[in-house]
Amino acid sequence: MEISITTHSVIADNSDCLILAFKSAVALSASLSAINKASAGYIHALMKSGDIKQEFAAATTLFKVPGIKAKRLILVSLGKSKQLKPQDFKKLYRNIWTQVNNTSAKSMSCYVHEMDKALAAEEHIYKASEALLHLQYRFEQFKSKKAKTSLLKKIAFVLPANDPAVKTKAMQAVKEAQALAKGVSLCRDLGNLPGNICTPEYLASEALKMANKSTVSVKVIDEKSFASLGMGAFLSVAKGSELPAKMIIIHYQGASKTNKPHVLVGKGITFDTGGISLKPGAAMDEMKYDMCGAASVLGCMSAVISSQLKLNVIAIVAAAENMPDGRASKPGDIVTSMSGKTIEILNTDAEGRLVLCDALTYAERFKPASVIDVATLTGACVIALGSHASALYANDEKLSKRIQEAGEKSHDRVWPMPLWPEYQEQLKSPFADLANIGGPKAGSITAACFLENFTKKYSWAHLDIAGTAWNSNGMEKGATGRPVPLLLAYLKSLT
Ligand code: BES
Ligand code: MN
Ligand code: ZN
Repeated sequence: MEISITTHSVIADNSDCLILAFKSAVALSASLSAINKASAGYIHALMKSGDIKQEFAAATTLFKVPGIKAKRLILVSLGKSKQLKPQDFKKLYRNIWTQVNNTSAKSMSCYVHEMDKALAAEEHIYKASEALLHLQYRFEQFKSKKAKTSLLKKIAFVLPANDPAVKTKAMQAVKEAQALAKGVSLCRDLGNLPGNICTPEYLASEALKMANKSTVSVKVIDEKSFASLGMGAFLSVAKGSELPAKMIIIHYQGASKTNKPHVLVGKGITFDTGGISLKPGAAMDEMKYDMCGAASVLGCMSAVISSQLKLNVIAIVAAAENMPDGRASKPGDIVTSMSGKTIEILNTDAEGRLVLCDALTYAERFKPASVIDVATLTGACVIALGSHASALYANDEKLSKRIQEAGEKSHDRVWPMPLWPEYQEQLKSPFADLANIGGPKAGSITAACFLENFTKKYSWAHLDIAGTAWNSNGMEKGATGRPVPLLLAYLKSLT
């Protein structure tokens, strides 16, 4: 999809489809007034007829409006909204997208400045581009017959006046939205790919593609190295699978070497059967999404690289498959993690924390400014927060606040959860330093508390994305690309 920034009057616009917003049927915007005049009162008459829907984001398509060059005009109602909130963009542009795709329009022109005058044009354009590029996503590589794709190929955002400074900012916003969209779409692709294709090796090969000669280096380490590093927890999960586990490390250098890096750690269980503590069969296919933490970290790195953020960022992906096997770990097994702490594996289905704890210990060597791990860690998190917010845990209040703000800004929201020491009681084992499960109560919290034991040396946050990473509903099923927008907004807030 081609996105451009232009300036011209509504009368002169010769696109297939003009998109204009209105707040009230009486006080028309400058553009709508101009069209009303050119069409001898057509718009006013229509508004009076009561046929134009007034609730927020309702869109009505008009054909052959007299006095203008554009082939169609879509009127979008802003309802009673005073200001557009981050969550409004998705709904607004989904409705516009649907209306446009109900026609055969190949191009559209959007007069964004009239939608919310308080909002800087470039911010509106960033959000609008993000929303439209998200709608354009398809995952059809395994379908013999592809669905009809959108005819819409060109989007123009039209600015009110020829102001070069505003235009430059707007063009930069489009580029940034495209970088984000590319990262989100990589995250969704990796998530949607089945476990027989998206293996630990596949994730490694995707990461290796990001390497370049200037800013990005990628290292993949294998099980032999895990053993010499003492990653007994990670290995205890990996050993039940025929597929070799991989740890992927991506270094992005966007700032001076002396600047401490920000580290992202992703859970990359490419399929989670539960292991010997086998999961029930219903919906087990969805455990192909158990690498969505890894996918979001890779997606975020892609966006960081293409937007050339002035930061140092390191991604660590712990990739393995959790399978039942003669060589798999059993309930009661005790392993030694890289930190030296011993773990009694009471349930082999609590494997995410086992791979993550060693990846978190590995992160210490980078002397990080911050570490955020991202994981589809617990079913309990889905019960607690559903699919609107990812659970946020942090050992640093400032980091927590910054992530919450990034969540609001990107509308990829999080909700803070407690890491009180009382919860640690649930992780006590009579035989080892820690048990890998904390019983039926507060499952998302005790999983986070387990990880906290391995993060004492730096400022750390954990995102449980079990409820937000994918959508389970029927034909809508699929990876959401979350929390790539959140992670990118967080990293941008540091520049
Ligand atoms: N990958 C799952 C968590 C999960 C389950 C996410 C369902 C989304 C939907 C994780 O590895 C897991 O199995 N967790 C267990 C932990 C339990 C054994 C303490 C769970 O949540 O049931
Ligand atoms: Mn599991
Ligand atoms: Zn899992």
